Amino acid sequence: EKGGWDSFMDKEIHEDPEAVRNTLLGRVDLDGRLNLDELHIDENAFKSIDKIIVVACGTASYAGIVAKYAIEHWVRIPVEVELASEFRYRDPILTPRTLVVAISQSGETMDTLMALRHAREQGSKVLAICNTQGSSIPRESDAVLYTHAGPEIAVASTKAFLAQITAAYLLGLYLAQTKGTMYRDEIGNTLEALSQMPEKIQWVLDTQPQTIHDTARRMVDAHSFLFLGRHVGYPIALEGALKLKEIAYTFTEGFAAGELKHGPIALVDEGEPVVVIVPPARGRNILHAKVMSAIEEVQARGAFTIAVAEEGDEDVAQKADVVFWRPECPTLMSPLVDVVPLQLFAMDMAMLKHYDVDKPRNLAKSVTVE
Ligand code: BG6
Repeated sequence: EKGGWDSFMDKEIHEDPEAVRNTLLGRVDLDGRLNLDELHIDENAFKSIDKIIVVACGTASYAGIVAKYAIEHWVRIPVEVELASEFRYRDPILTPRTLVVAISQSGETMDTLMALRHAREQGSKVLAICNTQGSSIPRESDAVLYTHAGPEIAVASTKAFLAQITAAYLLGLYLAQTKGTMYRDEIGNTLEALSQMPEKIQWVLDTQPQTIHDTARRMVDAHSFLFLGRHVGYPIALEGALKLKEIAYTFTEGFAAGELKHGPIALVDEGEPVVVIVPPARGRNILHAKVMSAIEEVQARGAFTIAVAEEGDEDVAQKADVVFWRPECPTLMSPLVDVVPLQLFAMDMAMLKHYDVDKPRNLAKSVTVE
């Protein structure tokens, strides 16, 4: 079943490009228009949506944060991301114009299922983004957009995360198309950029493993790791931190780089490993400069810095102790490549510690209790 790979996790990380490619398949017309008729929500209902609330747990909730940044930018409606376990206990504001998006790989996570039931009771529409055909979450939703990542066996989610971001982006672009908040060309160009991502992910898988492995060997005895990022790099920092804690049992903390000075910097000491997701130097270069200064601040306190950065970024090459490179891509596409080295890094760390990467202690693939 593992088809020559050391573990399901290894196999599934190598299926990251396919997960994105297959999730796009058949959903874009030849003339570049999105076709999501499969949703069975009529256009007028879509046009009237004035707020989105994503409910999800763990990795799926981080895909939700990535989606929030993109959808608010494209569609200009507020997107909240809520941990499913908190949602129904705080009396959230739900109306018939609220679209609740439940993201779940398994489709069986009880916290997410209870959240969507609550949303429907309050009269909101629920759309599921799910990887498992016929599971409970899509069955109980008004509409479903399947991620086509294929079965995910390893407990720690990898390829499903990329497929969730892809599907949520399709939903966002579809809303933009329906509501007319983006020009047709812009939607077409964004879809084109999205369809180029599988090759870019493949480049990371082909060129970065040696550096990642060497870094894991060097870091295997570290007691804790900090992960920081800004903008869409922030949820990727959270996801990188989660992967390492889930399977390598290392204490990790992911946070927004801007928060460094408001607390986490107190944790930085001689030799502390800090993983930094660096935004592209082009375009949003204000953020690039800010993240570079975060690198300098932690280094001044003795941190060992591991950067995830765009090829050709000289600033990073000079400053960071180690760099995992990604190919050039638009900022909103960068999560799809930036997460890949972090998945590989967590797997290498767990293997070097002789842990079972597919079945980490105390965790289950889908948690069917609340
Ligand atoms: C957790 C898993 O229990 O559930 C995570 O350990 C996963 O890996 C989370 O992200 C949510 O699962 P699902 O199936 O709803 O996406």
